[in-house]
Amino acid sequence: MHKPHVPAEPIIIIGAGHGGVSVAAGLRTQGWEGRILLIDGDSRLPYERPPLSKELLKPGSPEHVTPLRRAGYYEERGIETVLGLDVRQIDVENRSVTLSDGSIRAYYRLVIATGSTARALRIPGGDLPGVQTLKTFDDATRLRGQLTAGARAVIVGAGYIGLEVAAAAAALGCDVTVLEFQDRVMSRVTSEPVSRFFEQHHENHGVRFVFGAAVTAVEGDGRAERVLTADGESYPADVVIAGIGVVPNQQLAEAAGLECNDGILVDEHGRTSHPAVYAAGDVTRFTSPFDGSSLRLECIQNAQAQADSVVHHIMEKPRKDADIPWFWTVQHGVRLQTAGVRHPDDDAIVRGAVEDKKFSVVYLRGGKVSAVDTIDSLKDFMAAKKLIAAGAAVDPVLASVPGTPLAEAAI
Ligand code: APR
Repeated sequence: MHKPHVPAEPIIIIGAGHGGVSVAAGLRTQGWEGRILLIDGDSRLPYERPPLSKELLKPGSPEHVTPLRRAGYYEERGIETVLGLDVRQIDVENRSVTLSDGSIRAYYRLVIATGSTARALRIPGGDLPGVQTLKTFDDATRLRGQLTAGARAVIVGAGYIGLEVAAAAAALGCDVTVLEFQDRVMSRVTSEPVSRFFEQHHENHGVRFVFGAAVTAVEGDGRAERVLTADGESYPADVVIAGIGVVPNQQLAEAAGLECNDGILVDEHGRTSHPAVYAAGDVTRFTSPFDGSSLRLECIQNAQAQADSVVHHIMEKPRKDADIPWFWTVQHGVRLQTAGVRHPDDDAIVRGAVEDKKFSVVYLRGGKVSAVDTIDSLKDFMAAKKLIAAGAAVDPVLASVPGTPLAEAAI
């Protein structure tokens, strides 16, 4: 097989989240013999993010970080790391990056895996102490310290983050109010039946929802004490958490002249508009290989799949077929697992018993399975993934009979 030469300069990876670490690890697994340099502004050993809004906020759980790879992993594999310094600038002409200590590092190939940042609450008082977002280990430990029994937690946004925090806060004995400007929870990612199920599930655990809430200000004497909404209501708060989505960290790429549009634009190999520069993970925008839509996907599966494509392209190896994206969230012990990307006007077929907390919703676009949401229905999750990958259509009547295996409804 053709073997690329071993260049003197390293492959530099900016960002040691799931995407960046997967690139570094994947290069070694695939036999890359050249240097690899992984850079991240956080001085911690690269860590998992899902536990930050789940296990880490559980009553009695230890406040420890879950590393993506054990200590020693990077050194053993000859992956050089610079942790605790930011990249300030990318020079695509000279193929180099400038770090926050002023040093300049030349690269052979550059991979931008800078991820995303939690969107800040841009309203008067949105930056008062006591208002916070949840994205990093430090955010999670700070939040945990504030979610004490009896504390009034006002959460803005009923997306994945808002709802996971609501569940954790309720379990820790907080008084929890969620303010959401849409008319249901998780409206960006799921359909009405799933939203209503989770709304009820949270209410059963004491969480209050206010829908159609336009948050206008946070007030307090040197610290957040209440959240105001456009209808004149005021919600007393000891802690305010904004879970209102994320923005891609594309500033470095933009300044370097790489094409961006709410995400760094990449092709199916993870290539940006510059041939020596790749990007992977939350920071990217790309065209779905399944339906041609323009997507920015915030999930580990996507970060790993794109990392894999980047590795294969750098090493001039053929790429694997695209994976079906999948996502999960756990709220009050109930796990929602989603495969595929639903469009708001897809048809929805509910299978199983919502009241038994064991059901799935299969989404159809033009008769073909486009996505699935499953609650305690792993069989449907697996079957739907295969049907989505195959571009298969299902008979909607057969598919709605819970006893019928989903695969048997295929036509
Ligand atoms: N006031 C009230 N609600 C708002 C406001 C606002 N000003 N702005 C946004 N929202 C609501 C949206 O309607 C949506 O329901 O906040 C919710 C945000 O949900 P998501 O887009 O899912 O974002 P978030 O929950 O922050 O999760 C971000 O983190 O868990 C990871 O990768 C995962 O994609 C996820 C990301």
